Amino acid sequence: MRHTATRGLVVGLGLVVVAVVFCGGFVAALDNGIGLTPAMGYNTWNDFRCNITAQDIMDAADAIVRQGLDKLGYHYVNMDDCWAQGRYPNGTIYPDPVAFPNGIAAVADYVHSLGLKFGIYTDRGLLTCAGRPGSFGFEAIDAQTYAAWGVDYLKEDSCWAPSFSHDFAFSEYSKMRDALNATGRQIYFSLCGWNTWYSPVGYTLGNSWRIAGDCNEWPSVLNAIDKNAPLSVNAKPGGWNDPDMLIGSDPVTAAYLTQDQSRTMFSLWSVMAAPLLIGSNIRNLSAFDLETYSNTEVIVIDQDPLGVQGVRINGSSLSDGNSTYNIWGRPLSDANGGGWAILFLNNGNDAASLTCDQECISFMDFDASSTIYIRDVWAHTNNGTVTPSEGITVNVPPQGASVTLRLTTSQL
Ligand code: GLA
Repeated sequence: MRHTATRGLVVGLGLVVVAVVFCGGFVAALDNGIGLTPAMGYNTWNDFRCNITAQDIMDAADAIVRQGLDKLGYHYVNMDDCWAQGRYPNGTIYPDPVAFPNGIAAVADYVHSLGLKFGIYTDRGLLTCAGRPGSFGFEAIDAQTYAAWGVDYLKEDSCWAPSFSHDFAFSEYSKMRDALNATGRQIYFSLCGWNTWYSPVGYTLGNSWRIAGDCNEWPSVLNAIDKNAPLSVNAKPGGWNDPDMLIGSDPVTAAYLTQDQSRTMFSLWSVMAAPLLIGSNIRNLSAFDLETYSNTEVIVIDQDPLGVQGVRINGSSLSDGNSTYNIWGRPLSDANGGGWAILFLNNGNDAASLTCDQECISFMDFDASSTIYIRDVWAHTNNGTVTPSEGITVNVPPQGASVTLRLTTSQL
C-alpha cells in the first residue's frame, strides 16, 4: 500500500516536472516586479525618426527635467530605432560611432544622473525595421550588454522575423524575456508585435505589448482604439496593452495631430491604461503640448493602482466609420477617489451633444439612488451632480475632440 502511494507520488511529481518543462516557454512570467502601472516617459521615434544622436538623447533628458515632467512621473527616456551599427566578432553589438562617440553607457549614465531611466530598442528579427542589426540569435548576449550599459527599458520590435507564426513569435519573445531575467537587472520589457493576438499571452512575456500598427496620423490612432477595445481583460498591474506611443500637436515633429486629437489621444490612452510615452518635440514642447502632458488629473487616471483597462460603453468602430462617437469608462480605485473616469469622443464633422444615459450609467455600477458628482478633468471644474436616471450630457466639438469627466459618489 505504502509503496503504491509513494510510486503514485513520484509519478505525480514527474508529471508536474514534465508539464513545467513543456509549458515553461510561455507560462513563466517576466516577474521583474515593475510596470505595476503603465510606463511613462518619452520615446524618440515620433519626434526624430531615424536621426538620433547621443546629444539628442541627453537634450531630451535635460528637457524632461527642465519642463518639470519628471516630477509628474515621466521617467523613461527611450531611444528607438537607428542607434545600432554592427557587431564585433564576438557578437557584441555596438552603436553608430559618429552619433554615439562615447558609447551607450555614457548616455545611460547621463540620463541616470538626472534621476531618469534609460530605454533602448531592438528587434526579434535579423534586422530592425530601419535595417539595423536585430537580436535574433543574440538574445542572451544582447540582454547582458544592455544590462552592463545600465538599460532600464527594452522595446523589441518584430521586423525581419524569420517567421510570423504566433508560436514562433512567443518563443522568440520568451527567449529575450528569460535573457533579461537572467541579467538580474530590472528591465521593463516592451513587446512590439503590432497585433491583438499577443494580448492574451502578453502578460507572461513582457510588461506591455503593442496591439496594433504604428500610430502616425489620426486614422491609425482610431484603428488602435478599435483594436484595443475588446482587450481590457488582458491588462493588469505588471502587463499592459500598448496602442502605441503618444503623438503631439506640433508640426515640427515627424508625426503630429490636431490639438484636439492629441488631447483626446492622451485622455483615452489614460482611460485605456496605456503607456504614456510622449512623442512630441520634447526639447521645446509647445505650450499646448506641455499643458496636455502636465495634466495631473488625467495622469492619475492612467496610473490608477487598480490597473483596470477602460472599456467602450457606447458606440462602436470608429476607424471604419461605423460610429462617429464613442463613450469609454474606466473604474478607479478608492485610494484614488473611486468612481469612474468617462470619456466622450466625437469623431463626426459637426459638434455633437453626447449622452451617457441611465443604461450607460448603470453599466458603471452606480446605485440607482446615488448622487453622482461630475468633475471635468480638462476644464478643472466641478459640474454639479446628477442622478442615474438623469444621465450625463456633454457638448463635444467635432473631428476627434473629447470631454473627459470623473464621476464619483462624493465630491473629489
Ligand atoms: C516599427 C515600430 C515603431 C518604430 C519603428 C522603428 O515601425 O512599430 O514603433 O519603433 O519600427 O523603425
